[in-house]
Amino acid sequence: MSEPIVLGIETSCDETAIGIVRGRTLLANVIASSVDEHARFGGVVPEIASRAHLEAMLPSIEKAVKDSKISLKDIDAVAVTAGPGLVGALLVGVASASGLALGLGKPLYGVNHLAAHVSVDFLTHDQPTDPTIALLVSGGHSSLLQVDDITSSITKLGATMDDAAGEAFDKIARVMGLSFPGGPAIDRTALSGSPTAIDFPRGLTTSNDWATRPYDFSFSGLKTAVARYLESTPDYAKADVAASFQESIVDVLLQKSLAACKATGIDSLVIAGGVAANSRLRAVAEERCAQAGVRLRIPSPALCTDNGAMVAALGSLMVAAGRAPGPQAFDADSALPVERVSL
Ligand code: KG4
Ligand code: ZN
Repeated sequence: MSEPIVLGIETSCDETAIGIVRGRTLLANVIASSVDEHARFGGVVPEIASRAHLEAMLPSIEKAVKDSKISLKDIDAVAVTAGPGLVGALLVGVASASGLALGLGKPLYGVNHLAAHVSVDFLTHDQPTDPTIALLVSGGHSSLLQVDDITSSITKLGATMDDAAGEAFDKIARVMGLSFPGGPAIDRTALSGSPTAIDFPRGLTTSNDWATRPYDFSFSGLKTAVARYLESTPDYAKADVAASFQESIVDVLLQKSLAACKATGIDSLVIAGGVAANSRLRAVAEERCAQAGVRLRIPSPALCTDNGAMVAALGSLMVAAGRAPGPQAFDADSALPVERVSL
């Protein structure tokens, strides 16, 4: 058989996203986002997201098939995000994928959103990355993972104890009056600021933290410090605050990632999830990984934020590894743990 064609469906948050891959080649990546409908609420409203998924699903699948220059019957397998995410939003994707797979008579893979974020790197860099350390930083999750086999074996080394990194970006952007989502807004604002202008705290980096929870993160102290600074400095320089806040997050994320590489002896790091699109994180990661002799892989910025290609990529890797598909129908799991790569 020539390389299998896999269609991936992602609906865990506010993007209705369809990706199609042939083996490791990306054929289509269609994203319909309801972000504008959520902007005035300062965060994603689950009911609005679910409804938008329903409306966008069929046109998005049709567009992806057309962009790929294939026909629906050429698809060898369907993959869908089974969790974690907003349950109502996930359900639209799972029901659609289940119907599509059943209608086509093809296998269905229910996959983990977080593992999919990491696996999208395989579309950009052709060598297999595992084993690797993976820093997964998105709006809902921040964790440090040891990936021995992306299709079956992921171990959580640490995670955030409070906010996710992306969530911290979104909240601080909000108090600074920047647009939603906050990550890209802070990234842009920080470009003209100084990362050393304000010395914001680095969460969980005391010697006691390094001894007891070396791979966990905490951003709530940083958030409070920034909020206090803003309150007590009426004429603050937005660019400097954005750059210094961003620097604290970038610094801690990379200190802990490289410590994990060193401790495990794994000289490969993948950075994935929406925050991996951050320009400062990408630049500092390049420098520090080069110094430490660690191979760094970060997907292109467009593939870091939620997309369907990442789900199709993980589905494709599952097919290539000979993993058995899941059941034809299953429930979405809003709290699917990262260690469960597929259902
Ligand atoms: O992975 P993702 O698209 O969705 C989730 O699974 O959560 O991540 C979205 C998060 C948001 O919090 C957004 O502010 C953040 O990623 N983000 C960024 C950047 N682009 C997106 N954070 C920092 N810098 C960016 N350039
Ligand atoms: Zn995500």
